[in-house]
Amino acid sequence: MTKHAVSFPGGIQLEVEAGTTLKEVMNDAGINFDFPCGGRGRCGKCLVRITAGIREPLAEEKEKLTAEELAEGIRFACMTQVHGEMTVEFLSEKNIQHRILISSLNRTAKVEPHITKRYIEVDQPTLTDQRTDWQRIKDGLAAQSNAEESPSKPVPLLRTVPDLLRDNKHKVTAVVYGNEIRGLEAGNTTEKLYGMAFDIGTTTIAGFLMNLYTGEELSVASALNPQTQYGADVISRITYANHHADGVDVLHRAVTQTINALIGEAAKKAGVAREDIYAVSIVGNTCMHHFFLGINPREVALAPYVPVISESVEVDPRDLNLEINPAGMVFVLPNIAGFVGADTVGVLLATELDESDEIKLVVDIGTNGEMALGNKDRILACSTAAGPAFEGAQISSGMRGATGAIDHVTFAEELEYTVIDDVKPIGICGSALLDIVAGLIEVGLLDERGRLLRPEQVTDPRGQKFKHRLLEHDGTPAFLLADADETGGKKIMVTQRDIRELQMAKGAIAAGIRTLMNNYGIETDQIREVQLAGAFGNYLNPHSACVIGLIPAELEDRITMVGNAAGAGAKLALLSQSEYQRAAARARSVEFIELGSDPAFSSTFAKAMRFTR
Ligand code: FES
Repeated sequence: MTKHAVSFPGGIQLEVEAGTTLKEVMNDAGINFDFPCGGRGRCGKCLVRITAGIREPLAEEKEKLTAEELAEGIRFACMTQVHGEMTVEFLSEKNIQHRILISSLNRTAKVEPHITKRYIEVDQPTLTDQRTDWQRIKDGLAAQSNAEESPSKPVPLLRTVPDLLRDNKHKVTAVVYGNEIRGLEAGNTTEKLYGMAFDIGTTTIAGFLMNLYTGEELSVASALNPQTQYGADVISRITYANHHADGVDVLHRAVTQTINALIGEAAKKAGVAREDIYAVSIVGNTCMHHFFLGINPREVALAPYVPVISESVEVDPRDLNLEINPAGMVFVLPNIAGFVGADTVGVLLATELDESDEIKLVVDIGTNGEMALGNKDRILACSTAAGPAFEGAQISSGMRGATGAIDHVTFAEELEYTVIDDVKPIGICGSALLDIVAGLIEVGLLDERGRLLRPEQVTDPRGQKFKHRLLEHDGTPAFLLADADETGGKKIMVTQRDIRELQMAKGAIAAGIRTLMNNYGIETDQIREVQLAGAFGNYLNPHSACVIGLIPAELEDRITMVGNAAGAGAKLALLSQSEYQRAAARARSVEFIELGSDPAFSSTFAKAMRFTR
């Protein structure tokens, strides 16, 4: 049998037998295309433009299309047969098979959303065709894509069917998840299909509004995790949940209400209606994951540290009071084990550590620090409680990386700093704290144990021009960064206590990295690349990270900043069913190292607390 090549936008090309219809070709290619009348040439809606290999129009096409349209190459996809090499263009952006592009990671994937929409025009019943309304809808869908019929019979949806069909001339859009019809909407609403990917951090929640056809990011919204008022870290939140009868509910509601507010904010920014959002994906550490689902993570904090669930979870948004279209679904990525949660799975998806030939170290720096070490053959992962210092929280002059935050500090001839949005400074964010402590070490104002010297103790010549900034504040040593006249009111300082917070945070992460290397049986020379992820990942100065000992100094020239990789993983899982399935496989194959049970961990941690170069 003769075969011919058919080309579609997005680089899709298939070899098909002569006589195959474009409808059949598109079904085989997995192209989501609407055939409202099931391909009988009645509706005239399955239009494509044929730019090469066109044939004379059929009678049905002549009846429905204008002379200009026919001359332009417009034809019915359901009736057009392939009888030679053919090039097809779509009239709507939603039919083009797009790729997800995550440029900071040089990562692409095919857009293939979990929820799809199909526009159908079903036949009106007659005395000779008495199929039920529901059967007509199922037949309409089956005629479009050879899909299996919906196994579920959702009663609330069935109640709406008679009016919906008759009020809309039997023209409706089905919201489909797998082979389940989750919703029916009046007329053709297929152009409106959006989703939101969330990274629930211990301190910060970030949400990304995505177009589920094109994979395009439309807007971003973020907020402080409101659970911080019940505890800065995961352990204190678990303690809160255990000491209050409604503790889990309170923490669950706090996070879901904020997510609802962020959905509203992101939708407004992008000019999208909240009800056009049909999918939400979630990553977070195991504790955030459990509280999001309203599950008590108590056992994760107690030996032998067992989560309630680690598989991916698909939930009806109504079960979580999430305010998106009720026909949508929520996709929660899987956990690995202990506190190494769905956020690490997100990082693995985004960085493709599981595909790497070389050994790489990926560190997601946040209040809870997660790290993974390995390559395509073996990956080890662990989690460590770093505290919120890296995110600027619980620091005397600390703030998030927002307008007015000092984000970088240099100890040059003078003390120099930059401020986000170039306004008067109001505080410092995590990346500046790192620069300050690194600078203090380099000019000899801070000793190996993390103590700020008094001015008369400074012997390093590089420190002489900065020692007048060493003061006492509320009875403890401090370093003055900006005086009141520079800030328009308040002095900005780094206190001895702030330095202790950072010391604990960096010690926890550095000890985690060392423990992973010990368990893997490698030294730093075998690590080809270090990828630093985290909400402030792109702002952090790699040199400062190495000076303070957060990352082994020998790796300084192998560091790349990959930004919010957990968030990027959440986007991939939202936009691509294959990536979501891949997340499940990764969560099962990664080996988890429980730091609490590693006999060498406390001595490794004690060593990692020191500021040595
Ligand atoms: S004319 Fe209706 S699907 Fe082609």
